[in-house]
Amino acid sequence: MRIEVLTLFPEMFDSLKVGILGKAQEKGLFTLNTTNIRDYSLDKHKKVDDTPFGGGAGMVMTPQPLHDSINAVDKDHKCLRIYLSPKGETLSQNLVQKLAKEENLMFVCGNYEGIDQRIIDLDIDMELSIGDYVLTGGEMAAMVAINAVSRYIDGVLGNQESTSEESFSNGLLEYPQYTHPQVFEGMEVPEVLLSGNHQNIAKWRYEKQLEITKERRPDLLGDK
Ligand code: ADE
Repeated sequence: MRIEVLTLFPEMFDSLKVGILGKAQEKGLFTLNTTNIRDYSLDKHKKVDDTPFGGGAGMVMTPQPLHDSINAVDKDHKCLRIYLSPKGETLSQNLVQKLAKEENLMFVCGNYEGIDQRIIDLDIDMELSIGDYVLTGGEMAAMVAINAVSRYIDGVLGNQESTSEESFSNGLLEYPQYTHPQVFEGMEVPEVLLSGNHQNIAKWRYEKQLEITKERRPDLLGDK
């Protein structure tokens, strides 16, 4: 998979060079390229924003640097071009898995009060939100999406960290985990986990998943 990021702050994406995602890039499992939108500004001061027509607070990113950078990086429109915005479709594990099937993804990050609508109409395939709250820019949202999507690229996670037994993988929240020591601050590990009876362990874990999901996220069970 090739991931392109268009941003005014490429250095923010350095945080994706460490840990599991850093290793995956070293192994060539996916590539992550960042492009500074400002480099494409034809303005003599490299300006990328202006005041909104109709008035109102803040600044809006102008179309020219965005249009030119998007189409320079993705000349033949091979990327699914995603603009991060609180107005977009909300990211879910389902959507993460769909995005992970794409070969080329582009994340366009807006700042200030957003970008000129004509760029969304002309150059963007979908708008994506990471939740009902507002960030100062799209960068953090792009990083969240890239992190979640790259976990589904073949080879990124070892068996140890597989996606098969985690929250949402069977539509439920994850069961509680315990490790050594067996007693900590007087609190014991549930006995069934020490029993070695895999059928009983699986049953206990499934019941815990149901219990936690019912308590915290009844919407996932279809109960509102
Ligand atoms: N930009 C600002 N807030 C955002 C959000 N919640 N999701 C995606 N992009 C954003």
